[in-house]
Amino acid sequence: MMPTLFKAEAKLAELLKNREAWRTLFIDYHPPYVERLWMQFDTETRLYLHRIHPCEPGEKALFHPHAGPTAVRIVNGRYQMDVGFSEEDDAPPVLMSSIYESGSCYEMSNPDAWHSVSPIGGSSLSIMVSGKPWNRWSPKSDKPLRELTPSEREVLVLDFHLALQLG
Ligand SMILES: [Fe+2]
Repeated sequence: MMPTLFKAEAKLAELLKNREAWRTLFIDYHPPYVERLWMQFDTETRLYLHRIHPCEPGEKALFHPHAGPTAVRIVNGRYQMDVGFSEEDDAPPVLMSSIYESGSCYEMSNPDAWHSVSPIGGSSLSIMVSGKPWNRWSPKSDKPLRELTPSEREVLVLDFHLALQLG
């Protein structure tokens, strides 16, 4: 998915001009809470822009597998990422913990890779692409999630413009 991520990044300034093409979601069923802008990038790829909020003290970030292959670029802030591996639907032990900073990117290409992300010292901004879904369980909210308010949406777009120095 890395080449797709790079392709999406190259087109991002253009894509952000078309505000109507982006849908929004506020994901707050489990920490870390996420503000999301997303759009269909091509037939098999979705493009997401995320503001990930830090967990509150004592909260544990959601450890999860993904529904399909993904690649991510951190564009502002930093987060700790824990990684594990399991074919089951229960959280495996953590195999590795790393800190990712602005400019880092990574790909999750195995259906049984699990991770959690926990921003450090403030929220993070990141770009993610996802490909054709696998036949694999991944966590979903059991409550309806709201869209971003118009002002949340504008601030998020503006923050991506600033972080990426888009015109
Ligand atoms: Fe994830």
